[in-house]
Amino acid sequence: MEIVAVVIIAFWVMLPAYIPNNVAVLAGGGRPIDGGRMLGGSRLLGDGKTWRGTAAGTAAGAALALLLNQLAPTVSETLSVSLPIFPALVVLALPFGAMLGDIGASFLKRRTGRQRGAPFPGIDQLDFVVGSLALAFIVKPSWFLETFTLPVLAVVIVLTVILHISTNVFAYVIGVKNEPW
Ligand code: CTP
Ligand code: MG
Repeated sequence: MEIVAVVIIAFWVMLPAYIPNNVAVLAGGGRPIDGGRMLGGSRLLGDGKTWRGTAAGTAAGAALALLLNQLAPTVSETLSVSLPIFPALVVLALPFGAMLGDIGASFLKRRTGRQRGAPFPGIDQLDFVVGSLALAFIVKPSWFLETFTLPVLAVVIVLTVILHISTNVFAYVIGVKNEPW
């Protein structure tokens, strides 16, 4: 498959995983998931992981996946690329997995003495990809292996790092995020 088609597919399948973190930033606030609980002298997750942010992020990613399913036939024909349809379980797994990956990263950050908002290079950029891909694989292995061929996976990783860095810098510049990571 040509590289342009691989990039289009990689971007398309990851959109439902890219959106949740950004929506969580906008919708966040309210009760933290850990309810203020501590573990070994630090917060379990911290105030940056809230029920509202997690629910809004997951809902937005799932809604986008459903919309993409509606658009896929037309866009596939227009671009001459065979875009995948997200199975029902994957519609939820991609965004929820992304949120879980991000929550897992905060858990690791607190265990390694990093305060809320402290950078964790590499983890900050890839936590949600690992979470969304892992959960998609768990709920629908056949679809996962068909869709995420090695070239698609490779492009997903490169694309994610580029997009994540640029959107976070953008969110910082326009003032909706406290740190540019
Ligand atoms: N957010 C949320 N719920 C989530 C993820 C994010 O409410 N599950 C919101 C919070 O307001 C958070 C902001 O989005 O402060 C930015 O997200 P992120 O950078 O992931 O959190 P940090 O505040 O930097 O905290 P941490 O150090 O734990 O990553
Ligand atoms: Mg952060």
